[in-house]
Amino acid sequence: MNLWVKKRPEDLQEASEHTQLRKSLRAVDLAALGIGSVVGTGIFVATGQGAHLAGPGVLLSFIIAAITAGLCALTYSELASMFPVAGSTYSYSYAAFGEVIAWIIGWDLMLEYLVSASAVASGWSTTFIGLLENLGLKLPKALTQTPLHGGMVDLPAILITLLITWILFVGIKESAVTNNIIVVIKMAVIILFIVLGISHVKLSNLTPFAPYGWKGIMAGAAIIFFAYIGFDAVSTAAEETINPKKDVPLGLMLCLLVVILLYVGVAFVLTGLVPYKEIDVGNALPAALARIGIRWGGALVATGGIIGMISTLLITVYGQVRIFMVMARDGLLPEVFSRVHPVHKTPAICTWITGGLTALIAGFFPLSIIIELCNIGTLFAFILVSVGVIVLRHTQPNVERKFKTPLVPFTPLVTIGFCLYLMASLPALTWLRFSAWLLIGLAIYFIYGARHSKLQSRYLNSG
Ligand code: ALA
Repeated sequence: MNLWVKKRPEDLQEASEHTQLRKSLRAVDLAALGIGSVVGTGIFVATGQGAHLAGPGVLLSFIIAAITAGLCALTYSELASMFPVAGSTYSYSYAAFGEVIAWIIGWDLMLEYLVSASAVASGWSTTFIGLLENLGLKLPKALTQTPLHGGMVDLPAILITLLITWILFVGIKESAVTNNIIVVIKMAVIILFIVLGISHVKLSNLTPFAPYGWKGIMAGAAIIFFAYIGFDAVSTAAEETINPKKDVPLGLMLCLLVVILLYVGVAFVLTGLVPYKEIDVGNALPAALARIGIRWGGALVATGGIIGMISTLLITVYGQVRIFMVMARDGLLPEVFSRVHPVHKTPAICTWITGGLTALIAGFFPLSIIIELCNIGTLFAFILVSVGVIVLRHTQPNVERKFKTPLVPFTPLVTIGFCLYLMASLPALTWLRFSAWLLIGLAIYFIYGARHSKLQSRYLNSG
């Protein structure tokens, strides 16, 4: 067995050419896919969590997290343009570092996609419940809270996940159209929030700006990073893109630019409207508008939010399904994960397994734990991407890069520094959970993946 067996760039191209998936997406579709994936629970829910940790200084947390995400996008785009295939960081690591690291990354990406999808479903549920309560409808706690918060199950989170899973099962084309409509709606309500709130901002709410100092701002940034996660979902759709080498980096950058502008606006208005200690974490934006007497605005923003989070959920589950599918195609997961439905042309069984797992986590685990775990896993994956950019410039200098990260190795090294700093700002318990997760993954690799890997058997046969 050779744990470090690597894919050649040709292997990745070949997989892409033989795909059974439809090729129908362009750069604008990808940017919409990105915004659809990125703007979700983070801005509606994590903003409040971050503000509790950082105070009004959460504005800086947003900027630090944005710089980190921007740097990650710069390194990520190079790999995405080198290997225009589905499977995200997993596929790139297979070429850069070899199988065992690729597996660890694939396993780690479950935190970024599957666990993140659960977080989004969970945030959807708190916003949805907030809206119902605003309308005078109170659901029983047993059916809306996870066991750790005194309930039994978060049923709305489960139901929304199952609905999304069904949409994905039906097919990419329908999903992309749905996504585009939703993206317009959620951008509109975020702009509405900024416009309605900005004239009510009180500068007194913004002082003291950093009640918990730099540490608080960094702890906030480590949570807020969640709000930026998802821009890389753009490249998981590479296989379904008409001209991936050009469109993937373009779509990524466009998406991130729009998102940063929206977020900084929201963070400023929110902390200017409400003293940070009084921000309603589960329902931050609508509650802030209700507080200044604009109830209709609050209801509208909440409605847009719950519609908006649907697209985030959609794309996140979609990304996870594609990653599982590629891992199964490589033999590291059972073959059923890659089986494509004859009529819908989607990986049907994989879609339902992914949706089912997402629903379970969302239904039974509290949002704060899910978000922290998701962030640490995602940051880890991005560190590997940056290392990959540096390594591949040396080991595979001749593979065409339509997009080149500027100032290598400086940019990837700074990216690694930012990611590590954010990871270090997460609680020790999160580190423990993350280490346990990786160890379980490694065990599964040796029990299953290493024995069924297609690349391993090809390597052995070729002597
Ligand atoms: N960035 C995504 C969100 O905020 C995960 O919901």
